[in-house]
Amino acid sequence: MMNEMNVTWHEHQVSRGDREAMKGHKGCVIWFTGLSGSGKSTIANTLDHKLHELGFHSTVLDGDNVRHGLNAAPGMLRDTHGDEFAERFGLGFSAIDREENIRRIGAVAELFSAAGLIALTAFISPYRVDRDRVRKTMREGEFIEVFVDTPIEICEDRDPKGLYKKARAGEIKGFTGIDDPYEAPLNPELTLSSGHASPDALADEVIAFLRARQIIP
Ligand code: PPS
Repeated sequence: MMNEMNVTWHEHQVSRGDREAMKGHKGCVIWFTGLSGSGKSTIANTLDHKLHELGFHSTVLDGDNVRHGLNAAPGMLRDTHGDEFAERFGLGFSAIDREENIRRIGAVAELFSAAGLIALTAFISPYRVDRDRVRKTMREGEFIEVFVDTPIEICEDRDPKGLYKKARAGEIKGFTGIDDPYEAPLNPELTLSSGHASPDALADEVIAFLRARQIIP
């Protein structure tokens, strides 16, 4: 397929199936979505550890880490790349910046999945349309949306980084769940009621789902 920039898609010699056969499981993207403090990263990391122990090849992409590199904020790019670059390509938390954040993560996660990995992503990803667009870039069954359904009262009570407190005090504007929207998935593959269950038990729920779908043996 050729596009208007004369860029052509290449099929590689080693297929996705070849890579999956080597690893002994399928590639996929497990997309955790939920409020800040809902437990996305903790569950993703617990699951990553369990999958690793079982001999499966997984990796985690999470919000805070990716926003230090691939999706750095404008202020982190100014010194090295200059003002114009930082403004154009640096990302914050406006709706359009979150949209681009999710688009880039979706593309990276798909590359990992195509390489035969179980890619775990832990981003708030508050907009349904952005998540659904990522889903559409993937094959049937490749995108597994996991709603980490923790009530905001519990997230705010946990407040591991003190961000809810700052948002309530007006020191952070546009904080998800306080003065910015969070659109819960309508049809996620899995919903984890994470308010009172342990990360260990929740990770086991995802593993049971992966087995039932024959993504892992
Ligand atoms: S998004 O909405 O998917 O683009 O966000 P994400 O890349 O997951 O980044 C969320 C983390 O950034 C911190 N943070 C904020 N979150 C929400 N709203 C605002 N305004 C904001 N500003 C900073 C916060 O630490 C989030 O981390 P988690 O792990 O979700 O608590």
